[in-house]
Amino acid sequence: MSKTRQNILFLLNNRLTEIDFSKPESPGPTTTVLNYLRTHARLKGVKEGCAEGDCGACTVVTATASENKLVYQTVDSCLLFLPMIHGKQLLTVEHLAHDGRLHPVQQTLIDHHGSQCGYCTPGFVMSLFGIYKEPSALPIEEIKQSLTGNLCRCTGYRSILDAAKTIADFNGKPDQFSVSETNTISQLNKIMADSQPILIETADQVYLKPFLLQDALKLRNLHPDALITSGATDLALRQTKKHEKLTKILDLSAVSSLNYWLEEENTITIGAGIDLETLRKRSRPHLPALSRMLDVFGSKQIRNKATLGGNIASASPIGDTLPLLMACEAGVKVQSADAERVIPINELFKGYRKTDLKADEIITAVIFPKPLAQQLIRAYKISKRDQMDISTLSVAFSLRLVDGLVDKLNIVYGGMAATAQKATSLESALIGKPWNEEHVKQATAGINDAFSPLSDVRASAEFRIQAAKNLLLRFFYDTQNEGQ
Ligand SMILES: Cc1cc2nc3c(=O)[nH]c(=O)nc-3n(C[C@H](O)[C@H](O)[C@H](O)COP(=O)(O)OP(=O)(O)OC[C@H]3O[C@@H](n4cnc5c(N)ncnc54)[C@H](O)[C@@H]3O)c2cc1C
Ligand code: FES
Ligand code: FES
Repeated sequence: MSKTRQNILFLLNNRLTEIDFSKPESPGPTTTVLNYLRTHARLKGVKEGCAEGDCGACTVVTATASENKLVYQTVDSCLLFLPMIHGKQLLTVEHLAHDGRLHPVQQTLIDHHGSQCGYCTPGFVMSLFGIYKEPSALPIEEIKQSLTGNLCRCTGYRSILDAAKTIADFNGKPDQFSVSETNTISQLNKIMADSQPILIETADQVYLKPFLLQDALKLRNLHPDALITSGATDLALRQTKKHEKLTKILDLSAVSSLNYWLEEENTITIGAGIDLETLRKRSRPHLPALSRMLDVFGSKQIRNKATLGGNIASASPIGDTLPLLMACEAGVKVQSADAERVIPINELFKGYRKTDLKADEIITAVIFPKPLAQQLIRAYKISKRDQMDISTLSVAFSLRLVDGLVDKLNIVYGGMAATAQKATSLESALIGKPWNEEHVKQATAGINDAFSPLSDVRASAEFRIQAAKNLLLRFFYDTQNEGQ
């Protein structure tokens, strides 16, 4: 860390753009990409609806060079801090038309009458562009997944979905971005060749952006008071909704060695920085319960940025990965500049949004024991709607039967207490018994004593208790239907 820099570089469409935060006229480092585009770059196609990741009106696309290819991601620009686009190409709705012609995604939306008032349209266009740029044509379920983060109040989704299906068929057709791909990759690689941390210090903010894990750990050691961010899908809301001044940030989003998947004989180790959309796809064959749970986690724009480490460190009682990680007895690897340890996830949470992490530690990975052939793992989420909603309550089960008897059982509920919580008394009531309806029904009665959930805007305590009982029964019936 001999040399430091205070500037970021990125491609705004194909124009190399620099922001030097040391200049007084520059925006602050936690300026969102949305505000930068509208206020500084005067690109007003991108819209603000909610400023909290819910509506998709602010959707933009980033392209990142990876293994000689460009990886395109739709993201909510209202939750993206400017330094997070360093070394990326940033594309907005203004960049799609080329040589006086609309991009095929724009023309297709028009052909299908997919816009009325037009407020949501730039966001939808960018999500459709994301579909166009997928490495292979998406099946219908994935097309829907790509649009769940975009709200439209007036057109209705039918015509937009029809446009999206047509666009999925265009997949792989060249456009101006594929023609200039080699040049774009070489420019991005040139920016990323410098791995010195970006250390921005303004009159009222410090923003630290390392690229190497060792630098991240050193910076953590020097700045234990900094707020860590990975995808900022949780942290950015403190600025955009609570209007807090985020005075010191340690941004891990560019530490590529936190982004990995390692399969070994008995374990799967997942880097804390892996984004949840990549994890959703990657885990489908190996950890299907995790993948299915991620199908109903936020939206594609959120999952493209949100990380596994961020979900764990948020320590929210309704963090959707937590019951599953706890039911699977995952280990959380944490590192400081001079030590590392693995904390069993069941020992990590110390209270509402509190973890056992020390001030100089960061989460670097999650270690999953590989599911055994006879192990049944399921996760369920109850929310007001299927997609794009936070949990009212959730639960994960891991069950092993031997000769029809419950040999091992982990039951972990989210949304029933201040942290995700193991239902130890229920487990004990069922272990050693035959796995049948009678015993499961008897065990559900224990939920009244095991939990005292809150009543809040999402549900009453009574609803939560009843739903928790029903989910245990549902798990039982699913094990009957799907075979053991
Ligand atoms: C619209 C919307 C929908 C959402 N839907 C869901 C949902 O369905 N289910 C759900 O569970 N959550 C949801 N969330 C919450 C959020 O997206 C997740 O918690 C996400 O996993 C956070 O990850 P992140 O990388 O963005 O974390 P960040 O916002 O970057 O950080 C979150 C917290 O974790 C800490 N942190 C991050 N990385 C590390 C690390 N490596 N080591 C130590 N500390 C770290 C930060 O200091 C911060 O306190 C939603 C959020 C939004 C805005
Ligand atoms: S403004 Fe609504 S998601 Fe960003
Ligand atoms: S066209 Fe009006 S909100 Fe979608």
